[in-house]
Amino acid sequence: MSRPAVAEQIIPVPLGERSYDIVLRPGLLATLGSKLGALTTSPKVGVVTDRHVASHYLQGALRSLREAGYDPTPIILPPGERTKTLGTIAKVLDVLARHKFERQSLLLALGGGVVGDITGFAAAIYQRGIPYVQVPTTLVAQVDSSVGGKTGVDHRLGKNLIGAFYQPRAVLIDPLTLRTLPRREWIAGLAEVIKYGIITDEEFFVFLEQEMPALVKLADAPVMHVIKRSCEIKAEVVAGDERESDRRRILNYGHTIGHALESLAGYRGLIHGEAVGIGLVQEADLACHMGLCAHEVVERIRRLVQRAGLSEQVPRTAFAPIWKAMQHDKKVAEGRVVGVWPVRIGAVTIQPIERQICAEWLQAAQDRGHQSPSGRRQVRAPARQKTRARK
Ligand code: NAD
Ligand code: GLY
Repeated sequence: MSRPAVAEQIIPVPLGERSYDIVLRPGLLATLGSKLGALTTSPKVGVVTDRHVASHYLQGALRSLREAGYDPTPIILPPGERTKTLGTIAKVLDVLARHKFERQSLLLALGGGVVGDITGFAAAIYQRGIPYVQVPTTLVAQVDSSVGGKTGVDHRLGKNLIGAFYQPRAVLIDPLTLRTLPRREWIAGLAEVIKYGIITDEEFFVFLEQEMPALVKLADAPVMHVIKRSCEIKAEVVAGDERESDRRRILNYGHTIGHALESLAGYRGLIHGEAVGIGLVQEADLACHMGLCAHEVVERIRRLVQRAGLSEQVPRTAFAPIWKAMQHDKKVAEGRVVGVWPVRIGAVTIQPIERQICAEWLQAAQDRGHQSPSGRRQVRAPARQKTRARK
């Protein structure tokens, strides 16, 4: 018996003249071409993807585009974070120029966050900006990176150091693509989902606590809910602060330590969501150390991260250079690392952290054999920091 069709969900991202829709429907990829009608007047479409995604979805996407009258040019990149470089951007631009792409020609990002960030940045700078559409195929990309217009590449001194805010014309999500995602990537994506519960929505966090066993098994209904709710939260935050001058910074929760770990591992060991998973727990632990949240908050986050199958431990070698790596984060202002700290599940505060406080916390963690400081007992926050927290 065939399953009933799931209705298409549309989540608007209201950004004035840069507004667009996130369209979510199982099976959407098969009708990709029909979704682009209003988005471009040119038949030329560059389909940027990576080898893994291409092996599953490129032919179907090209077929659908040709059936709808487009002239697609595939641009297939090597998979993985190490592709996110200026060198790759140069190669993509080279293809666009050789194929005489014009101002109205469209780029399509068919893949995960790496493909999405690269495609968006190439679209932002080719001929000073051409339209692009996100067709995300990983959980990280479907719940986070495809929405909000952050595009760019890594620099050897820091992740995402080079880039532009440049919004897509649409985000087209087919959750069925997640079925071919390697389990490790799926689990890693759950870290970004958990992030949304911590930063804005306790009810969603409770849903995740209840449904995590089903989510880990990729059950259809909770997966749809998770993508929809995550996109709604991201759209709401981005609509209120498109260029991250203020509230959008809450989306970086877990990423200050996460990015530092990724960078220290040379983008080889930990994948993005795994690093963020560690960051979610350790930044809560650090917040607890600073006197900003209760121990129970850390423990709830830790339990959920563990139940998702993610690690929450900072790798053994990472403690000493971690502060240095945090200095290269974009969230540094006047030399101070500005962090996002949970005060309870569903609410965060943004404030700088002093080097001394972070050093104490890192040292405490190291002394305890890489257990987080609050993992065994609560460390009393230094008086100076406590005063700041109460303000
Ligand atoms: P990724 O793009 O590297 O994809 C992960 C792996 O899964 C790759 O090997 C890819 O080939 C493979 N893959 C993708 N879709 C597949 C599918 N459906 N079936 C089988 N294999 C598939 O990683 P990611 O986790 O999607 O994205 C991480 C990147 O996103 C990082 O660079 C991060 O900085 C960036 N990011 C950006 C934002 C933003 O707002 N722009 C937000 C979060 C993360
Ligand atoms: N992923 C963080 C942001 O989009 O702002």
